[in-house]
Amino acid sequence: MDLLLSLLVWSLFSVHCCLSSPSSPLVNGVGRLKERVSHPRGWAKGIRAPPNQILELKIALPQPSFHVLEQHLYEVSDPEHARYGQHLSKAEVEALVAPHPESVTSVDSWLQSHGIEVDDLVRSPAKDWVTVRIPVSQAEMILSTEYHIWTHEESGDTVVRTLQYSVPEQVYDHVELIQPTTMFARIKKQRTTFRWSSHQDIPPFNHTKITLPNGISVDASCNTTVTIDCLLELYNAVGFNASGTIGNQIGITGYLEQFANIADLQLFYADQRPEALNSSFKFISVAGGQNSQNVSEAGVEANLDTQFAFGLTFPTPSTFFSTAGRPPFIPDIGTPTNTNEPYLTWLDFVLALDNPPQAISTSYGDDEQTVPRSFAQRVCNSFAQLGARGVTLTFSSGDGGVGDGDPDPATQECITNDGRNATEFIPGFPASCPFVTAVGGTIFIPEVIQAIHIEAFSLPYKFSNRLQSTSPEEDLAISLLVLHIKTQWFKPTWTRFRKERMQDSSTPKEEQAIPDVSALADNFKIFFQGRAGLIGGTSASSPTFAGFVALLNDVRLANGKPPLGFLNPFLYSLGKFGFSDITVGNNPGCGTPGFNATVGWDPVTGFGTPDFGKLKELVLL
Ligand SMILES: *[C@@H]1O[C@H](CO)[C@@H](O)[C@H](O)[C@H]1NC(C)=O
Ligand SMILES: *[C@@H]1O[C@H](CO)[C@@H](O)[C@H](O)[C@H]1NC(C)=O
Ligand SMILES: *[C@@H]1O[C@H](CO)[C@@H](O)[C@H](O)[C@H]1NC(C)=O
Ligand SMILES: *[C@@H]1O[C@H](CO)[C@@H](O)[C@H](O)[C@H]1NC(C)=O
Ligand SMILES: *[C@@H]1O[C@H](CO)[C@@H](O)[C@H](O)[C@H]1NC(C)=O
Ligand SMILES: *[C@@H]1O[C@H](CO)[C@@H](O)[C@H](O)[C@H]1NC(C)=O
Ligand SMILES: *[C@@H]1O[C@H](CO)[C@@H](O)[C@H](O)[C@H]1NC(C)=O
Repeated sequence: MDLLLSLLVWSLFSVHCCLSSPSSPLVNGVGRLKERVSHPRGWAKGIRAPPNQILELKIALPQPSFHVLEQHLYEVSDPEHARYGQHLSKAEVEALVAPHPESVTSVDSWLQSHGIEVDDLVRSPAKDWVTVRIPVSQAEMILSTEYHIWTHEESGDTVVRTLQYSVPEQVYDHVELIQPTTMFARIKKQRTTFRWSSHQDIPPFNHTKITLPNGISVDASCNTTVTIDCLLELYNAVGFNASGTIGNQIGITGYLEQFANIADLQLFYADQRPEALNSSFKFISVAGGQNSQNVSEAGVEANLDTQFAFGLTFPTPSTFFSTAGRPPFIPDIGTPTNTNEPYLTWLDFVLALDNPPQAISTSYGDDEQTVPRSFAQRVCNSFAQLGARGVTLTFSSGDGGVGDGDPDPATQECITNDGRNATEFIPGFPASCPFVTAVGGTIFIPEVIQAIHIEAFSLPYKFSNRLQSTSPEEDLAISLLVLHIKTQWFKPTWTRFRKERMQDSSTPKEEQAIPDVSALADNFKIFFQGRAGLIGGTSASSPTFAGFVALLNDVRLANGKPPLGFLNPFLYSLGKFGFSDITVGNNPGCGTPGFNATVGWDPVTGFGTPDFGKLKELVLL
């Protein structure tokens, strides 16, 4: 109910924004309720936050021309449109997300009326975000609210949050959202299962070829150990040489203080990409992201993402972004570590770059429902800004089947946190944002979707999760994987686009669903802390897919064409002909078998896995 109310308010607001706003003097007062959420599932409310605790408050001003940006985005990303590839400049994008000048002055005078000087405000380049560091006591006054310390029951992490906040009537229409307030998301790595291996555990490379039904030959050992060569073979890219000098770049984002270890990268290259030995990537620390290179502090996620994405695309220049911000937050007077989820911090940084990498992969996310809609929409709109500038963003679609992947019944898998306690499929964010490409995962060769979710065996309502198999291949043993469903927050945009552009039966009709595409996602052989191991999860498939996008960008740039940019309009039209369909398996969760992988697009593997040989022709049409 509360959430529905705030959704309604949000949508009314977006219609009425900026049409009228009396510029009468601002008065401190109770104000008008801006946002309210219900007590979030899994969090316990504790004592009042220390009044001196510093908050880094981010105020989003409405972007009255965002719909114009969105129109440009679809036109320049649609291979059938005359403007395909004519990406916008940084300045053009900033002009289209700029707030109304009256919003800027109204918010400034509101803050000034609380003693905050304009010089104390930090503005995004487009002025659509205002950041101010103030103590909790002052934030409580400005927002007519009370901050408490909330503890995440499962992990013990604590945050300073409130369930509602208000702003004066006079600025109501000039503020879209303010955080940290009602945001209870916890960014996390997509679950990866990492297995240390002694050399006996990892079967040696076996270069005897298996020939797949589509005629592609793959080393026999790729079924149990995935290497760079396996991916190049399986996805039909053997012998392709990226240029490395035509302005193409690839990026990987890291959060939660993860960084990639360069010594491990060299071991990986020696094992799987000898020509890349001695090369490395550019490290960028965002807001103090770590990079000690201390081998025992490096992150397995960061090692996986960089080893495969950069190994696949060598010698394409590569960048690893390490964004600071890590739970647990410990209430600590004076340090504004109590940040929002850090996508915004990264976005602020990358949107300010003149030439961001044209393909960027992220293997982090959270359940969509834990991110307030207003915030999810705003972060998603920022991804659109990158798309309009020619950047492809890939995100892991998550490893929990149609559920949230949590095997612990105590955490009440698949129950909505909006006060209804309904059982529903749980999509992940940012994978659910329509302006990014969500990458699901497959396993084995030939590729299938894992039919059994092993962690669920102990849950009574999941019986065995073993589906009636329709073929021997479907009756597979073992672990993880894969993915998701329809999204709750983002349906309208994508539906509109699809109605206009996609009238054939092989694409989803009624709602946006995820994932868009897939790639292998288990048994990846990486190096970590000096040793080889196997790892899996959609954490592996997103950097893999981004690697192939970077190779496709190489093809386009070498032919004098701009990069692919926002990829989905290409995927859902021409691009889908460049995929190998995955038709075996399903993605159980929430006590259901989930969806079946079927012929054509399905909500388990999207269009399937890439065929680079075909895609490199399609991207030049
Ligand atoms: C390599 O793979 C082939 C095909 O699966 C198999 O017949 C052969 O025994 C394998 N060789 C070794 C050394 O494992
Ligand atoms: C790959 O491994 C899976 C699971 O063990 C098996 O079902 C499949 O037949 C294997 N593929 C080949 C080509 O041997
Ligand atoms: C790629 O480079 C390798 C090694 O230099 C060379 O043997 C191969 O022919 C090149 N492939 C193409 C398609 O040019
Ligand atoms: C890497 O550096 C080592 C030591 O300097 C050198 O022996 C080796 O040839 C280099 N390898 C490549 C591929 O450049
Ligand atoms: C590396 O990190 C570990 C774990 O944080 C720490 O114990 C060790 O002292 C560090 N080593 C160096 C050389 O800093
Ligand atoms: C939902 O679950 C919570 C926690 O178990 C409970 O306090 C609340 O009353 C439930 N709400 C409804 C509508 O069932
Ligand atoms: C998936 O396939 C099974 C076996 O053919 C079938 O019983 C089930 O209804 C299918 N599920 C969906 C959601 O279509």
